[in-house]
Amino acid sequence: MSEHASKILKIQNDLSCRLGRTSSLTEALQLCVEAGMEAAGMELGGIYLVNREGGIDMLCHKGLPEEFVRAVSHFDKDAPRMKILMQGNPIFFSANNNPLPESVNASGAEYYKALAVIPFKHNGEVIGCMNIGTAASEEISGIAAQALETIGNQIGDILARVRAQEQLRESEEKFSAICRSAQNAVIMMDARGRVSFWNNAAETMFGYSETEAAGRDLHDLIASGEQRQAFRRAFSSFRETGRGSFTGKTVELAAVRKNGEEFPAELTLTQIRLKGEWNASGIVRDISQRKREEAEKQNLQQQLQQAQKMEAIGTLAGGIAHDFNNIIAAINGTAEMMLKSKHPESPDFVRLERIIKSGLRARDLSMKLLTFARKEKLQARTVALDAVIADLTDMLRGTISRGIAIRTRATEPGLHIHADTNQILQALLNICLNACEAMPEGGAVVIETGRAAVGSGEALEACARPGAYCVVSIKDSGHGMDETALRKIFDPFFTTKEPGKGTGLGLSVTHGIVHEHNGFISVQSAPGQGTAFRVFLPEAAPCEEPDADPQRAAARGFGKGAILVIDDDTDFNGMIAEALESEGYDVIATHSGPQALEAFKTNMEIIDAVILDMILPDMDGTAIFRALKELRPDATVILCSGHSQKGKAAALLEQGAAAYIQKPFLLSEIFEAVQRVVHPSGTDE
Ligand SMILES: Nc1ncnc2c1ncn2[C@@H]1O[C@H](COP(=O)(O)OP(=O)(O)OP(=O)(O)O)[C@@H](O)[C@H]1O
Ligand SMILES: [Mg+2]
Repeated sequence: MSEHASKILKIQNDLSCRLGRTSSLTEALQLCVEAGMEAAGMELGGIYLVNREGGIDMLCHKGLPEEFVRAVSHFDKDAPRMKILMQGNPIFFSANNNPLPESVNASGAEYYKALAVIPFKHNGEVIGCMNIGTAASEEISGIAAQALETIGNQIGDILARVRAQEQLRESEEKFSAICRSAQNAVIMMDARGRVSFWNNAAETMFGYSETEAAGRDLHDLIASGEQRQAFRRAFSSFRETGRGSFTGKTVELAAVRKNGEEFPAELTLTQIRLKGEWNASGIVRDISQRKREEAEKQNLQQQLQQAQKMEAIGTLAGGIAHDFNNIIAAINGTAEMMLKSKHPESPDFVRLERIIKSGLRARDLSMKLLTFARKEKLQARTVALDAVIADLTDMLRGTISRGIAIRTRATEPGLHIHADTNQILQALLNICLNACEAMPEGGAVVIETGRAAVGSGEALEACARPGAYCVVSIKDSGHGMDETALRKIFDPFFTTKEPGKGTGLGLSVTHGIVHEHNGFISVQSAPGQGTAFRVFLPEAAPCEEPDADPQRAAARGFGKGAILVIDDDTDFNGMIAEALESEGYDVIATHSGPQALEAFKTNMEIIDAVILDMILPDMDGTAIFRALKELRPDATVILCSGHSQKGKAAALLEQGAAAYIQKPFLLSEIFEAVQRVVHPSGTDE
């Protein structure tokens, strides 16, 4: 073997050994170009690979200056001589034979004087070329050309393999980067149902690290207890057939995190055949947020429907109640007039009284309807919540039966609300009365007040504004309610009471009033577990102006009128006070002469009239009358007595008493007398 031949053989051997050890395409190309240069004994070289468009790109070079490389780094598939090259034919350029095109020595610096372009192939197709040349000689010798062709034949397959490996590695890296950074959990399980891939989102979603998850049964890991068996069954049929009820579809499931928390998820399962066995890859999406939003939307829709229903019933009820009121007024007025002409002993007297009583009940009912229909305007002012609760408990104690205790607790005293006191009292009273009615065996109603910050989520749910609220919570230990009842309690006319016992309007009125005050109500109850209502009312800043409190304003005589009642009979006092208050008067009830005079002295400025019983055990009516007149000569006094006191009364009437009423009297009579003396002009104001 010639020396040259053995040199070429050695170069070939070395090259093949080195290429076998490398997996980097850049390094492999470098080894090839160096081997070519050594074999040809030339100092310049480069390697081009064919690109997707059929042109060639220079990927490696040696001995060539950068500006030259830039000029020749790429040739299109239509460039001169590309066709020859792509057919697998080497091209030799030299000074005498086939001179180099000008474009090769672009800058005119003439880097190459002679150049061999040697194509190399894989599977019969040209995949690139090796360019080896020199500036030292104008010819490529036959030996050099042969050596280069030998190397060219050697490297095609090897470079193709290295390039394929590198492309595979790159694509794997890309795939892995995509899977790892995906927002959804990407999971793969092998034919036995064990986790073989677990991306970062799966780690976050389920709480298991990749190492913890790898090799474990996927169903144990992510399916909730109830669904685990169903999944296992589906998977074993999938393993046998490669098909399953879940494959190729997106299904919803209850998934479970490492900490045991269940959450709704969406799973898309795909089958993959690896090494002849079915594997499954799954993409899992946490849909808790979407579910929450759907539930919220549904809740809002229900609320809207409820609001529309209430609105419609309200309009209807309001319309009826308005006419109904006029009808009742006519019936009652006529009955009252007829009653005046009847003797109390006459059977018609009792009948007419019955008509009036029924009429009053009808009036109450229509008042409730009107309140529910919210046809009444709010007289809202800033009021102390504690005062409202004090009034509420007073009213309750006067109303409820024995055996029920009322307990109050202010967790945060000094809160204020902007409210129509009467209406809010009515709203709270309705809840309290229900609470009492739910405890026929007795028990306790616990009324607590406090403050709550209502966040935007809670507010949206309650269709209210977020912000600071005062909360009145009313709890009972009564029979409670089931879910069906709970859903209906605010519906007008929903009642579980016996026919004729309840109107079912109590809570709808409460609901209307609270909403009118921009508040909302939450209820918790279960059968046998009692009930807790929480009424949320927007918190108001305390008002500086003392007269802003309607109670106080009324007490100063700015209401319909303030009346001092003096009578030793407590029942009578209570009845009169209630009747007058129901007519819009403020009443100070006293039981003895000295107490009455004391009260008169304190409230002299605001008292519009005094109703004085002529006989009191501790002081004679005449004496009280004189004392009152002494304190205030223009005091308006209505005398009243059960005995025939015409003589005494006549004397006092002469001395300036405003009116005399004989007991027993009709309430209408006392109303008429009070109205006449307090508002002589006949108006209310
Ligand atoms: N605290 C409670 N415990 C148990 N059930 C209650 C409670 N509050 C309300 N309910 C239920 O809600 C229904 C409706 O109450 P609502 O106050 O609207 O009407 P009512 O009490 O039946 O009639 P009315 O208020 O006219 O007397 C009641 O019949 C009862 O079934
Ligand atoms: Mg009720």
